Amino acid sequence: MTTAKRFNTKENTDPTTRPALIVEYAPPYAIYLPQRGLVLEVASGSGEHCVHFARAAGPELVFQPSDPDAEARASIDAWIAEAGLPNVRPALALDAAADSWPIGRADAVVCINMIHISPWASAVGLVRGAARVLPSGGFMYLYGPYRREGRHTAPSNEAFDRDFLALGLTVFP
Ligand SMILES: C[S@@+](CC[C@H](N)C(=O)[O-])C[C@H]1O[C@@H](n2cnc3c(N)ncnc32)[C@H](O)[C@@H]1O
Repeated sequence: MTTAKRFNTKENTDPTTRPALIVEYAPPYAIYLPQRGLVLEVASGSGEHCVHFARAAGPELVFQPSDPDAEARASIDAWIAEAGLPNVRPALALDAAADSWPIGRADAVVCINMIHISPWASAVGLVRGAARVLPSGGFMYLYGPYRREGRHTAPSNEAFDRDFLALGLTVFP
């Protein structure tokens, strides 16, 4: 039987290590999330994170995954169907860079591993869009291989950065 399900990275396809890697994301994220309401995830990719967080959160916190890529949305929906969770909505087609988003409001916005691999307009659009959908004082969680105080936080991030530079790619204009 074929499935649209994808895994967030090639390295993460080993089922014995994948859950542990995903769990690493949970603690910093969960601390800031509201107890209930709607969490919009931008750039959900495979959909694994969203399903993982929705399972951990419980039914009062509803997750809205999204991705502009149709194959990613198919994967997200396949993960959701398999999980059978009541608190995850079907994936939306959402381009962070767009001037309008197909969702009017959210209590929190989460975006993992997008702004470093997409055009700068996506990062700017993400902040603008989050400002449109979040309430005053609303919360946005960004995760990625960012430097802190000018330093990489892991050797793998440093190697990733070097690969980008070797390809002649620049993340920032
Ligand atoms: C490296 S993947 C990360 C996926 C997932 N969040 C994860 O951590 O596994 C980057 C994702 O960003 C999405 N993406 C790229 N440009 C985007 C944009 N302008 N708006 C929203 N998502 C975008 C891609 O379709 C892809 O699914």
